[in-house]
Amino acid sequence: MEKLLRSQQWFGKKGKDGFIYRAWMRNQGIPDDQFRGKPVIGICNTWSELTPCNAHFRELAESVKRGIIEAGGFPLEFPVMSLGETLIKPTAMLYRNLVSMDVEESIRANPLDGVVLMCGCDKTTPSLVMGACSVDIPAIVISGGAMLTGKHRGRDIGTSDLWRFSEDVRSGVMTEEELNEAEAGMCRSRGHCAVMGTASSMACMVESLGLSLPGNAAIPAADSNRKVLAQLTGRRIVDMVKENLKPSDILTREAFENAIMVNAAIGGSTNFVIHLLAIAGRAGVPLDLEDFDRFSQGIPLIANLQPSGEYFMEDLYYAGGLPAVMKQMEIQLNGGCITANGKPVSENISKAQSWDKKVITTLETPVNNRSGIVVLRGSLCENGAIMKPSAASPHLMKHRGRAVVFSDIEDYKNRINDPLLEVDASSVLVLKNAGPKGYPGMPEVGNLGLPAKLLQQGVTDMVRISDGRMSGTGFGTVVLHVSPEAAENGTFSLIESGDWIALDVDNRLLNLEVAEAELEVRRKKQVPFKSSYTRGYTRLFIEHVEQACKGADFDFLKGGSGCEVTRDSH
Ligand code: FES
Repeated sequence: MEKLLRSQQWFGKKGKDGFIYRAWMRNQGIPDDQFRGKPVIGICNTWSELTPCNAHFRELAESVKRGIIEAGGFPLEFPVMSLGETLIKPTAMLYRNLVSMDVEESIRANPLDGVVLMCGCDKTTPSLVMGACSVDIPAIVISGGAMLTGKHRGRDIGTSDLWRFSEDVRSGVMTEEELNEAEAGMCRSRGHCAVMGTASSMACMVESLGLSLPGNAAIPAADSNRKVLAQLTGRRIVDMVKENLKPSDILTREAFENAIMVNAAIGGSTNFVIHLLAIAGRAGVPLDLEDFDRFSQGIPLIANLQPSGEYFMEDLYYAGGLPAVMKQMEIQLNGGCITANGKPVSENISKAQSWDKKVITTLETPVNNRSGIVVLRGSLCENGAIMKPSAASPHLMKHRGRAVVFSDIEDYKNRINDPLLEVDASSVLVLKNAGPKGYPGMPEVGNLGLPAKLLQQGVTDMVRISDGRMSGTGFGTVVLHVSPEAAENGTFSLIESGDWIALDVDNRLLNLEVAEAELEVRRKKQVPFKSSYTRGYTRLFIEHVEQACKGADFDFLKGGSGCEVTRDSH
């Protein structure tokens, strides 16, 4: 017997309740036949003019709707809180879990049989996927696509250049006037950041997990094929409802392994780690920090994209998109994983090929043998820390230097350009209290700008360590996500300026070279972390956020509650 659609628990009811459910919907001019057993598809839209990367989503949603109607579904678009990386203070990451709750409860509470997740700017992807996983009705992602490549004085630019421009202005190589000119050329179309930053890494993540149609990651926002894919996504979700193909059917352990391997091959963002861990937690799939290192190993960088390489998301699309990257590494992938179109990965990539070997190369001729995510262990980070070797300097992979410690980001800003700051090129810059609880919200400040006096000497990279995150567009020899964070009073919290720190990436070690007796003295003097946030969402966040090594989700949000709604107030 065919399964009754979930939405019919609302729209299929007789009497007073059915009247209430349908009558108020009719005020939108909806004909009666829409309520009679059509799959009701929610379009979870993160459109907002405050999220510039997603500002084109209302138009894109129209294409999704067309597809849903063509396939015999009944589309209903609904908004959720949107997170724009550039405007939100103090950091969008503070609200990722909040949005995931908004998404989860909005889906569960409403008469939906399936949902299309419209994702773009960094956090809008993990938050929507996390929320959808915890409900587990059929769900598919359509990403908004990246911007066209930026242009400035005859050269291609993207968000990663922003960090270079900033350092160039500070060192006197670039004028403020030229910086303004570059600003006008950076974001010249709709879409998210044009490099393999976090938003593009998230789009690749959903495609490699199998949560979107093939090709979703790389089609530029401004390309008409983005609308075509949105329409096809709308058509497909209706069939997914009929097949009852849910996130839990797609998100197997093997699918997560694929995502980690693909992230290594594309030089994806370090934020991928924290978001994938959180999604796995919702999906109930065992995944830990070590898995990122284990499955990254042996996968070189084969997509030549900034910030690890040279090119842009637009170039990735012209070169064949993510299917072409996955085809090159097919031998490594779990090809049997089922994806949103109902087909296995191996079938989806069977005809893919690289049309430009400069952009998508092969495992045998990689852009860089170092790639993926390295997980460091040692006395400085008892529960781990991560770094992205493809974006780091080879000469700093093994390094010993004295710490220059900043107690928080404000302390850093106040002192970094002080000519009297005791720092040289061999120093290790350490930023504390940028973790999930300590900041709170774990901002993207880990790629600390270098001291102005060293920039003027021509220094371009230093080892930097923090319990915070880094923009996916950032680069440098940057150790991130130190767990436990400073606010948790682990060894990281005890570092003082002048301490020796030893980094050995090949051996995965990060050690603080201070005797245990001295650490014990410091421990005794330590004042326990006490948050000044005593109310509202930020208090909830501090009380329940987990450490970065576990994905920084709330402890009470792990797993899911399913899609059943057992009580009815009418
Ligand atoms: Fe939205 Fe970069 S600011 S993706």
